[in-house]
Amino acid sequence: MPSKKNGVQRSTKNAAQRPTALVTGGSGGIGLELAKVLARNGFDIALVARSRDTLEAAAGQLEGQHDVKVHVFAADLRRPEAPEAIFDFLSNENIPIEVLVNNAGFGLGGEFADTDLDRELEMIQVNIAALTHLTKLFLTPMIKRGSGRILNLASTAAFQPGPLQAVYYASKAYVLSFSEALAEELRDTGVTVTALCPGPTRTDFASTAGVSNSRLFTLFGVAQADDVAEYGFQAMMAGKRVAIPGFRNKLVAQANRFSPRALTAKVARFAQENR
Ligand SMILES: NC(=O)c1ccc[n+]([C@@H]2O[C@H](COP(=O)([O-])OP(=O)(O)OC[C@H]3O[C@@H](n4cnc5c(N)ncnc54)[C@H](OP(=O)(O)O)[C@@H]3O)[C@@H](O)[C@H]2O)c1
Repeated sequence: MPSKKNGVQRSTKNAAQRPTALVTGGSGGIGLELAKVLARNGFDIALVARSRDTLEAAAGQLEGQHDVKVHVFAADLRRPEAPEAIFDFLSNENIPIEVLVNNAGFGLGGEFADTDLDRELEMIQVNIAALTHLTKLFLTPMIKRGSGRILNLASTAAFQPGPLQAVYYASKAYVLSFSEALAEELRDTGVTVTALCPGPTRTDFASTAGVSNSRLFTLFGVAQADDVAEYGFQAMMAGKRVAIPGFRNKLVAQANRFSPRALTAKVARFAQENR
């Protein structure tokens, strides 16, 4: 358990005892907030994102506030060889990964007929293929040890088709389905898998996807990334399979289960349209 000293959260575990959590997309947004929660709870951290400068700034912030070690690895998960490079780096450094957070991901708004195919194929690579590849690599040592936790960033987008962000919604449906299936396969192994399904959250996501003016991000409340991260961390530590932060998000996810798909697609389209 962490203790407080001079206003700074200190882990009571020594370096040899501290497990390491790998967070992809850990330099900003929900990923950085997850890294903070993990550090506060005594985990050393390995951060992955593209920008080395941003990673090093995040590492400095985490090490300045918590008594943990932060490793950084600059990698572009759009590149199919990136997961192997991350795994090799950590293996060569002799850093076992107790917690894998597959957080890196992005969206793209617009009619599918008009959107940029290359960007969408990159999205499938990051949101789906890299997440699957990293899970495959880090799972084997977790099963051998009989312990490990995997937190996959899905979204409330996973629960219905998403016109005007068709590929993104479909990618998150994959993450949810994959995570739930894997969680069942791994029961009794000591390894748990949690799909975290946030609704709209204040990060760079909306501007990167070009959806900042959508009804979803302007009409309804937008969550804070630190609240989402805390919720996701607690759910992961409790071994929950699906974690949906926020009452409204839970309600919408449940309602979608009992509604005709054509209707849920229409509602999602309304939410994705600009005001
Ligand atoms: N914000 C929301 O409303 C929301 C809602 C539901 C689910 N989510 C999901 O939550 C996850 C995190 O999103 P966020 O909102 O925190 O987004 P964000 O603020 O845009 O942060 C994205 C993070 O991923 C990294 N990243 C982006 N592309 C990458 C790549 N090709 N290779 C490696 N790292 C990459 C970014 O750093 P670099 O740019 O330096 O690479 C950054 O650290 C995503 O999977 C997203 O789909 C977000």
